[in-house]
Amino acid sequence: MISNEELHIVGESPLKGEVYISGAKNAALPILCAGLLTEEPIILNNVPELDDVKTILKLLEHLGAKTSKKNNQTIIQADTIHNTEAPYDLVKTMRASILVLGPLLARYGEARISLPGGCSIGQRPVDQHIKFLSALGAEIRMEQGFIIAKSKKLQGTVIKPDVVTVTGTENFMMAASLAKGTTIIENAACEPEITDLAHFLIQMGAKITGHGTRRIKIEGVNYLNGAKYVISPDRIEAGTFLCALATIGGCINLINVNPHEMTSTLHKLKEAGLEIEIGQNWLKCKMNKKPNAVNINTSEYPGLATDMQAQFMAMNTVANGTSSITENIFENRYMHVPELRRMGADITIDGNQAIIRGVNKLYGTTVKATDLRASASLVIAALASKGKTIIESIYHLDRGYEKMEEKLRMLGANILRAPRKE
Ligand code: EPZ
Repeated sequence: MISNEELHIVGESPLKGEVYISGAKNAALPILCAGLLTEEPIILNNVPELDDVKTILKLLEHLGAKTSKKNNQTIIQADTIHNTEAPYDLVKTMRASILVLGPLLARYGEARISLPGGCSIGQRPVDQHIKFLSALGAEIRMEQGFIIAKSKKLQGTVIKPDVVTVTGTENFMMAASLAKGTTIIENAACEPEITDLAHFLIQMGAKITGHGTRRIKIEGVNYLNGAKYVISPDRIEAGTFLCALATIGGCINLINVNPHEMTSTLHKLKEAGLEIEIGQNWLKCKMNKKPNAVNINTSEYPGLATDMQAQFMAMNTVANGTSSITENIFENRYMHVPELRRMGADITIDGNQAIIRGVNKLYGTTVKATDLRASASLVIAALASKGKTIIESIYHLDRGYEKMEEKLRMLGANILRAPRKE
């Protein structure tokens, strides 16, 4: 992570060409942690090269796992774990570190995880993880900013989280895979990344059914073996490129996508006026007019993903008409709004609702990235702006997008990465 880099973007170049979508960050992170559930090697293809992936690999190495990369394969082997503590300096940079809690409890019967602390998009508590891993038999207490967990053999049971939680569901699935007896997760998250993790765990020998629905059943087994797996494509990266296309215009082909996982996003983009041709694992899309303003209401999958909210907002800032966006998942996911306003956007916020009045043009200026998807929103706005935009603190972008500026440059965007001038 290089914290003083910035992106320089000169707007108004339409996008044209082909872009390969990388493996999904939010599938790779839990699957890498699942490597802790076996002493045998796991071999993963299509793991995206992202800062968040580097952080989780550092954490797995800190625990004693061996990690290596050969060609496009990432290999993890957790046969030499000598430590079950996830320290603050690693966890503070990435909340998804909580995903080692379930596997460590299941395989080693103990874990000491630094509490992640909040992040810019919201409190992001982990109370559900603690409540329902305890229901599986773990003794968990908080001490000086750490989650201290101990368990003999975890016991399967029925658990029903009070909220739909993606990483919570992933922690429960991983823990239950090695528990005694059967676990039912009611009110489970259905995101495609949950299904990807379930497919990988099944490859390892886990007995899981119902993944992708609100009710997942896991029959505990005594041992999980190593496995090979290809990480599915990143539906949020794909949606981000399509919001950029809808905003600035042009014609692009996305290669390596699962269109059936993007139904809500594609539906909204069609409403905005994007022409979309859908293939088995590709999308051909065209936009040759200003986008129509579209209303957005984020919700759990299969609804419109909260991770797509900022990108649609960027598109709406230069759309024909007025739109409303309601963010229902996180309480502070509008950090991109003040930055978009600096570029000339007309946005008013009232609680968790934003009203966006489309303007004729945005204008390049210097803005600051505040979180991952806010960074993507600023890139989209900059691509459509008159003149040059400088986006500072783009380490936020590097956490979740692989080679974004290279992919955009290949599509004809005038974009480059530069060190921050002191
Ligand atoms: C995952 O975060 C994703 N991260 C997020 O993607 C994504 O925005 C989010 O799911 C929602 O889809 C990864 O998968 C690594 P949640 P997660 O638990 O699991 C509340 C990105 O941009 N909640 O589903 O942390 C929580 O506050 C990132 O790639 C509790 O109250 O989200 C939120 O309001 C950002 N208690 C809601 O549930 C808990 O114990 C959904 O959170 C857990 C969650």
